[in-house]
Amino acid sequence: MVQSKTPHNTGSTTQAGIPAVSDRNSLTVGPDGPIVLHDHHLVETLQHFNRMNVPERRPHAKGSGAFGTFTVTEDVSKYTKAAVFQPGAETEMLARFSTVAGELGSPDTWRDLRGFALKFYTSEGNFDLVGNHTPIFFVRDSMKFPHFIRSQKRLPENGLRDNTMQWDFWTQNPESAHQVAYLMGQRGLPKTWRNMNGYGSHTYMWVNEAGEKFWVKYHFLTNQGMEFLSNEEAERLAGVDADYHRRDLYEAIERGDNPSWDLWVQVMPYEDAKTYRINPFDLTKIWPKADYPRIKVGTMELNRNPANFFAEIEQAAFSPGNMVPGVGMSPDKMLLGRNFAYADAQRYRIGTNFQQLPVNRPINEVHTYNFEGNMWFEHTDHRRPYVPNSFGDSWSDEEGTVDVSWENDGELVRQAYTLRQGDGDFNQAGVLVRKVMDDAQRDELVETVAGSLETVMEPVLSNAFQYWKNIDADIGQRIEQAVRSVTAQTDQQPGGDPQY
Ligand code: HEM
Repeated sequence: MVQSKTPHNTGSTTQAGIPAVSDRNSLTVGPDGPIVLHDHHLVETLQHFNRMNVPERRPHAKGSGAFGTFTVTEDVSKYTKAAVFQPGAETEMLARFSTVAGELGSPDTWRDLRGFALKFYTSEGNFDLVGNHTPIFFVRDSMKFPHFIRSQKRLPENGLRDNTMQWDFWTQNPESAHQVAYLMGQRGLPKTWRNMNGYGSHTYMWVNEAGEKFWVKYHFLTNQGMEFLSNEEAERLAGVDADYHRRDLYEAIERGDNPSWDLWVQVMPYEDAKTYRINPFDLTKIWPKADYPRIKVGTMELNRNPANFFAEIEQAAFSPGNMVPGVGMSPDKMLLGRNFAYADAQRYRIGTNFQQLPVNRPINEVHTYNFEGNMWFEHTDHRRPYVPNSFGDSWSDEEGTVDVSWENDGELVRQAYTLRQGDGDFNQAGVLVRKVMDDAQRDELVETVAGSLETVMEPVLSNAFQYWKNIDADIGQRIEQAVRSVTAQTDQQPGGDPQY
């Protein structure tokens, strides 16, 4: 007789599908006696509970996301052959937003960059764009990234976050100035994830059907308008609702108020990069829009909440290494390092075969000679685990220059990028605070930085004053005055009765 697959629907089952009998009482020797080891349901429940967590993402641990659709409304086919960017193409996608430094459970409204990670399930495989809500970053060499993240997290001796450590890293690495000026301004406190822009941040390559190459930067501009929180509001929300941003996105989509972003790109002709006055691959710099105006590509709308947060958001795995034909890397030393880091982190965090999970698997067929390992469950269509073989499989074997390539020459060295005329560390940070911010924003900036420096120890404190004076002499002066006046007041406070 064929057994029915209908689940036992009057109560729970074990994970093997067997009726669980009781979720309330464990099996004991008489009502008051000891529990017994062969209570399989109890043992399974306790064992699974101990294994409920996977390690959190090292950076960007706290976040959430939603599914949606990306629709190409314009024609950029003269720049890229990627199917996802062809006119009229509609692609299912996943977005995850996050803070960088906070751990799982930390408040969404702490001042930080916000991650803006996108996965496009394209007909040519998964294309991931793993960016932030700012167009730049703190450092420009992969070697520095773990140092940067460690300086923003916790001290090993006491598990505390530490402003001195954060400012020490930034001031010892002056290329961080542009990103720090952004972070300390309004953009460090977006009102919601819906109210912020997203950026690919790095320079990427596009290649068209004819093999012509271009450098591109991606800008996702919010259609909800950019809005920000004040320091006071952000602190209040951190106390009353640590999940404020997660909740906002979920509830907006539940009520049908689907957020959307228009994708624009800056396109630089391939040859321009060789002589442009700013190193176009330096992640601490933007390309001024006067030089490379934005070109519209299409719109991304988020319209479906995850059905299961753990399966579809915690186990989501984004990687800058996931590139499709028509899209490529660039000589950006951060981007090249990231190409390695993500899938490695995910093999550790989620498991060897994380790409087989529904949220991570591509919509097209996978043909890989990698197989088995923990949790492998797919059947490959390969008759032999090697190529070439005598049964129909042969090498994938394109030879010669790859289309997403660039010229390199010179010996292997350990050296910073060659400096160009416009490459000073403080140039663009200065323009940001002097020209992009208005008076009210500058006042807020001074207040925020001064507040963050109040507990910073010497010599880092003096280094921080100099760092800001290098960005802008006046702002630096005002920050120093604001901090000095607070510390002077604290020094003058009466100590109270010495006997008490
Ligand atoms: C060499 C530099 C970098 C390294 C080594 C690095 C490494 C990592 C690692 C290991 C993760 C966790 C991945 C996971 O467990 O799934 C991560 C997450 C993330 N990183 Fe980076 N990162 C770097 C720079 C950047 C930059 C420059 C950006 C933005 C422009 C960025 C944006 C993100 C985002 C958004 C996430 C969260 C992805 C998600 O939502 O799952 N990272 N990074």
